[in-house]
Amino acid sequence: MTIQTVATKLFAGQRPGTSGLRKKVTEFQQPGYLENFVEAIFLTLGDCSGRTLVLGGDGRFYNRTAVQTILRMAAAHKVAKVLVGRGGILSTPAVSCVIRKHGAFGGIVLSASHNPGGPDGDFGIKYNIENGGPAPEKITEAIYAHTQSLTGYRISDAGPVDLDRIGATQLEEMAVEVIDPVADYAELMARLFDFDAIRALFGRGFTMRFDGMSAVSGPYAKAIIEGMLGAPAGTVINAEPREDFGGHHPDPNPVNAAELVALMNGADAPEFGAASDGDGDRNMIVGRNLAVAPSDSLAIIAANATMAPGYRAGIKGIARSMPTSQAADRVAEALGISCFETPTGWKYFGNLLDANLATLCGEESYGTGSNHIREKDGLWAVLFWLNLIAASGKSVNQLVQEHWARFGRNYYSRHDYEAVDAASADKMMVDLRAKLASLAGQSFGDFRVAQADDFVYTDPVDHAVASKQGIRIIMSDGSRIVLRLSGTGTEGATVRVYLERYEADPSRHDLDTQEALAPLIAIAEQVSELKQRTGRKEPSVIT
Ligand code: G1P
Ligand code: ZN
Repeated sequence: MTIQTVATKLFAGQRPGTSGLRKKVTEFQQPGYLENFVEAIFLTLGDCSGRTLVLGGDGRFYNRTAVQTILRMAAAHKVAKVLVGRGGILSTPAVSCVIRKHGAFGGIVLSASHNPGGPDGDFGIKYNIENGGPAPEKITEAIYAHTQSLTGYRISDAGPVDLDRIGATQLEEMAVEVIDPVADYAELMARLFDFDAIRALFGRGFTMRFDGMSAVSGPYAKAIIEGMLGAPAGTVINAEPREDFGGHHPDPNPVNAAELVALMNGADAPEFGAASDGDGDRNMIVGRNLAVAPSDSLAIIAANATMAPGYRAGIKGIARSMPTSQAADRVAEALGISCFETPTGWKYFGNLLDANLATLCGEESYGTGSNHIREKDGLWAVLFWLNLIAASGKSVNQLVQEHWARFGRNYYSRHDYEAVDAASADKMMVDLRAKLASLAGQSFGDFRVAQADDFVYTDPVDHAVASKQGIRIIMSDGSRIVLRLSGTGTEGATVRVYLERYEADPSRHDLDTQEALAPLIAIAEQVSELKQRTGRKEPSVIT
């Protein structure tokens, strides 16, 4: 076995986006493409001797190939030890958990999250730091800079590691330990939630359906919900991770998990429905005839957090991404704790969690989590809801309705215009930015613009500044329109329009969401000319 330096050509566009580098599989398959990015990670990390890294992914097509390449490169960079999930499998939250539990220096996550998989789908790679969370921008920018200047990559020519057998092996000087992908994570969940109460709930015949969407969370959900909590076999469906996610789009929202929603709206609906995404960090919570808005889920978990043993002592603060609804702000106010508003992307929560300024975090994009790890965590959110249902004796619907009655309802929706022409989308944002100053004070029907700006975030801990994080048009009654371009899409540009309206009156809490938001939807179009400029008649996805 020898370690070689392979000369390489540079690839443009290897700048990590909202959550790592995501590209078409075919782009990753170009000789040197993955290797260059991994080399850039190692160049950024510097001396790796004596250090442990965690490695795993969501099992999508190219996962195994990438794991073998990264192992051979890690050995060439003198990493002391790599903990790799059996079969190359580790959900994103499990990577975060394993990094923290084993005191690893960092980890590499192979996933394009909810983006479709398979030879024609997407692949992705992300570096997580010592605290278990996504690398902050100063590290991702350093990685990017290296991708633009490196001349070669170092790699061992050793043969493949047997990924399917748990146990220790050696690659060059490096120890490789193939670990059970579920064990550490399951042990953490059992400490946070009242497993006895949830077991008793299932013992009383409580019915649930968890859709693993043929992605990574299946094995975790099966082991925990059916194995440890005693739910009947068949509670977890689509539990086997597949390289192409069985042709599904593993994004847990009412559009892509339509089957689950139909089941929950039907006559034989179980009492609780849930789903997770490709890499297991997103969650969807569904009651009978009710898909819970992720922003509401965050607020409800926060308001009831002390029902779960891991949060008995109360929460320090809540953090939400800027486009996420302000439902959590009202809970924070009632609890007398801070609510932080961060840019989109989980990496912005890391400092707040490390500094113990926030305990719970959430994004409107079906992401919820806490300080137990440094990633959002799909199954954690589902277990939190199970814990709330078991402890309160209430249904999902009761929990939601009582929450609205107490705090008011933030009607909320996101309209995505996917794969539009990138130049038109950029121009729309530029023109809209230029208009912002003149929007304040203007009236549109019943709404008056109180503030219009492009969100700038200053991290309260390290004072790093992130600018151009989304255009906000805030009305005098707190209603909002937010527009931003996606940082995870792999085709053209994706424009996201976020809409929010507050309703205090409980007699008006059962309106159709799109109808409740109709005036704001019209204002968003009037101001941005989005449809006209992109040539689209309607959004590609409404959630
Ligand atoms: C999207 C979501 C964002 C989430 C990210 C990674 O990013 O909107 O909330 O953190 O995926 O899961 P976007 O495509 O909007 O940049
Ligand atoms: Zn994900």
